[in-house]
Amino acid sequence: MSLGEQLDRVPPSLIRRFFELTARMSGVVSLAIGEPDFDTPRHIKDYAVEGLMKGFTRYGPNRGLPMLREAIAEKLRRDNGLDVDPEREVIVTVGANMPVLMGLASIIRSGDEVLIPTPAFVSYAPQVILAGGKPVLVPTRPEEDFKPRIEDLEKHVSGKTKVLIINTPNNPTGTVLTRSDIEEIADFIVEHGLYVISDEVYEYLVYDGYKHTSIGSLNGLFKHTITVNGFSKTFAMTGWRLGFVAAPEWIIEKMTRIHMYTVTCPVTFIQYAAAKALRDPRSWEAVEEMRNTYWKRRDYVYRRIREIGLEANKPHGAFYIFPSIKETGMDSMAFSEKLLKEARVAVVPGKAFGPSWDDHVRISYATNMGNLEEALDRLEVFVRKIIGS
Ligand SMILES: Cc1ncc(COP(=O)(O)O)c(C=O)c1O
Repeated sequence: MSLGEQLDRVPPSLIRRFFELTARMSGVVSLAIGEPDFDTPRHIKDYAVEGLMKGFTRYGPNRGLPMLREAIAEKLRRDNGLDVDPEREVIVTVGANMPVLMGLASIIRSGDEVLIPTPAFVSYAPQVILAGGKPVLVPTRPEEDFKPRIEDLEKHVSGKTKVLIINTPNNPTGTVLTRSDIEEIADFIVEHGLYVISDEVYEYLVYDGYKHTSIGSLNGLFKHTITVNGFSKTFAMTGWRLGFVAAPEWIIEKMTRIHMYTVTCPVTFIQYAAAKALRDPRSWEAVEEMRNTYWKRRDYVYRRIREIGLEANKPHGAFYIFPSIKETGMDSMAFSEKLLKEARVAVVPGKAFGPSWDDHVRISYATNMGNLEEALDRLEVFVRKIIGS
């Protein structure tokens, strides 16, 4: 099937109408944000200017600048236990969204199935369709902290299944998979001879002593794994559009062809800045500061949501919480629209993350405490009016 035909099958998301509505209104406090509210640390901006002035203004290699691939390989070894060859097993990409599609395109063929535990990041299912595959959604359960259950995955696996997509820490739930969760998933992958795309963009945003585990670091798993990551969330660089992926050589070779015939390479002076940033201790101090700030906000938002009377799991990572709105008797679109119109607070309807999640909403705490206090006060009045206090 042509790419055009696949495009016809991925119409713009239902929530677009909702965001258009938000954009037209004034006085809205947004908890719908999917990006850090922090600015990129100053020294990283300085590195970009330095890169420009040094002449990093030309095409670079399709896989990314060697200096950046080496810095990424160092980081993957140090923080993720992944021993990758920067020459053959890493590619620098335009953001972390794109490499998921590149990974899928490298592996699946028409009609192949891809398991996606839900709630899931909004891009995965459309990307599977664009790559010619069939998304197979596997709902998780709030009472199991939205973790994919092996029995459920087993029920959905078929002869056509090729890939499982995992995302820890998770958008939209904030769930962090523990090492033992990851080990169970790894056994499932190996047993069925699958590949796993592991989206780790929130890896440094973990709280309560939780530790991030990269599935590709487990014994024998590297050859099954595409590890996707990027600079957007870690260094507050969403607008810089820089990501990276580590995978077996044959997959990187295919991904390189996609770059070769489309984007060529990510912006070179930005790659220069990222390479310098990865090796600069100030970047990691900034990450720690941002993490501590998100953590305090998480404590506040979680407490308020519970006091308001909404059921929610305590998120241990990322910067989202995914409360249930079942109590209100409304679906997620109706709830979000009414909340926006009457209380001027924007959240994301749960339905955006999978059809089973129409009784949840996503709240982001990537905004300052003043906004959070105001938004939660408004949410409290709004919810109390509906469910009584
Ligand atoms: C889970 C997840 N993966 C990937 C991305 C894309 O990140 P990038 O800005 O690097 O493309 C996001 C952005 O919100 C995300 O939440």
